[in-house]
Amino acid sequence: MDKLLIEGGIPLVGRVPVSGAKNAALPLLMATIVAPGEHRLANLPELADVESMLSLLGRIGCPSLLGPIVRVDTSRVAWCEAPYDLVRKMRASVLALGPLLARCGEAHVSLPGGCAIGVRPIDQHLRGLEALGCTFRMEGGYVHGKVSKLKGAEIYLDMPTVTGTENILMAAVLAEGHTLISNAAAEPEVEELGAFLNSLGAKIEGAGTATIRIEGVTSLAPPPRPWHILPDRIEAGTYLVAAAITGGDITCENARAKDLVAVLAVLERAGCTVERGEDYIRVSRTGPVHPVNITTAPHPGFPTDMQAQLMALLSLTGGDSQIRETIFENRFMHVAELLRLGAHIDVNGNLATVHGVPEMRGATVMATDLRASASLVLAGLAAKGRTEILRIYHLDRGYEHLAEKLRAVGANVKRAEEGRPG
Ligand code: EPZ
Repeated sequence: MDKLLIEGGIPLVGRVPVSGAKNAALPLLMATIVAPGEHRLANLPELADVESMLSLLGRIGCPSLLGPIVRVDTSRVAWCEAPYDLVRKMRASVLALGPLLARCGEAHVSLPGGCAIGVRPIDQHLRGLEALGCTFRMEGGYVHGKVSKLKGAEIYLDMPTVTGTENILMAAVLAEGHTLISNAAAEPEVEELGAFLNSLGAKIEGAGTATIRIEGVTSLAPPPRPWHILPDRIEAGTYLVAAAITGGDITCENARAKDLVAVLAVLERAGCTVERGEDYIRVSRTGPVHPVNITTAPHPGFPTDMQAQLMALLSLTGGDSQIRETIFENRFMHVAELLRLGAHIDVNGNLATVHGVPEMRGATVMATDLRASASLVLAGLAAKGRTEILRIYHLDRGYEHLAEKLRAVGANVKRAEEGRPG
C-alpha cells in the first residue's frame, strides 16, 4: 500500500485543472445500460471508482474502451448481476439496480454493506422501485429484484437520497406513464444524470430540483455526440481549501461556482477572498482564518463531502467553530487523525467543536475514507514539518492525479510505498 509524504508550511499558488465529477461519472456509466448501443463519454476522471464501474459493466457483458473519450457498448447485457467482490469495493455499484431492472426485468445486486461513514441503507431505493412495480427478496447478502412491466407512480422519498433518486430515475424513464419523484435529491450530479438521460431520448423535467417529473418512453438510444461530464465540485472545493489553509492563492479551472455556493460562502466568512469566474473559481487568503459554524445539509446546503476538509481549515483559527454533521452518522473519522497533527477538537454525537490552534505539526496519520483522507492532506499541507499519510488508496478513489496537481501549485508532496523510507 502507498503512502503520501508531505513537507508542509508552503503557501500553494497557481492553477488546478478540475477533473470530471466522480459522482456523475458513476451514475452515467450505469445509465448507459438503459440505452442499447455504443456510448461515448468525455471528461471521465481516471479514478479507482470509475475503473470499478467499468469492470462492473464488463462483467454484465458491456465492454468499454478507455481513452480521452471512453466508449461503452451496451448493445448486449448478458448478466444482470452486480457481484459482492465489486460492490464491497464500491457501494455506488448499487446504481446497477434501476438500470438492470429497466433493461432486463431483473437484477441481482449484492447489498453494499456499510462503510466507514455509516450503515448506508438502501430502503428508499427499494421502496421507490417497488412503487414502479418491482418486487424484491433478500437472499445470501444479495437483493434480487424483478419486474414484468414498469409502471409510472408517485414516489415520495423520506430523505433526499442522491443514489436513491438516481436509481429510481433510471428505471422510471422506461416505465409506462408518468412518474413523480417528490423530495428528490437536487445535487448537480442528479441534474447531470437527468440531462444525460434526456440526451438518450428520455422525457424528464426538474432533475436537479426536489420535484422530478418523468414521462416514460418505450426505448432509448445513445446520443449522436460524446457526453462531456461536468466538473467535480468536491475536488474543486478541496483545492480551494488547500489555498485557504496554506495562505496561498489557487485558481480552479473548469470549476462551476454555482455548484459550490455554500462552500464559497463559508470560505469568505473564514477570511478568504473568493473570485467567481465564468468557468473558474479563485481563492486566496492573506489574513487570519476566522471561526465559522457549519451544518451539513442536502444540496444546496453545505455538502457533507466538504465537511472534513473545512474541519482541517477551521482547526487553524483563533476561536471555536461548531460543525454539525446531519447526513451520515459516523463522518468524524478524520478527527482522531487531526488530533495527531495537533488539532484540538471535541466530538459530542454529530457535533464537533473545533477549538482553533495557532499551528499544526507533521505526524504519521491513517486515511480511513475518501474525504477524511483529503482532510489529512490539507492539514499536512499546512502543518509544520513532515506528515506521512498511510492507506492513501482511499484518495485514489476520488482524486485524479492528486500529488501531481498539488506539486504543480508548489506543494512538497510525493508518494512512496508504505514500509519504505520516504
Ligand atoms: C451520495 O451517496 C454520494 N455518493 C456521497 O459521496 C455523498 O456523501 C452522499 O450522496 C450525500 O451527498 C455518490 O453519489 C456515488 P445518500 P449516497 O443516499 O447516495 C440515508 C463521496 O465522498 N439513506 O444521499 O449513498 C443514508 O444513510 C461519497 O464522494 C437511507 O436511510 O448518499 C444517509 O444517512 C461519500 N436510506 C443519507 O440518507 C436510503 O435508502 C444520505 O445518503 C438511502 C439513504
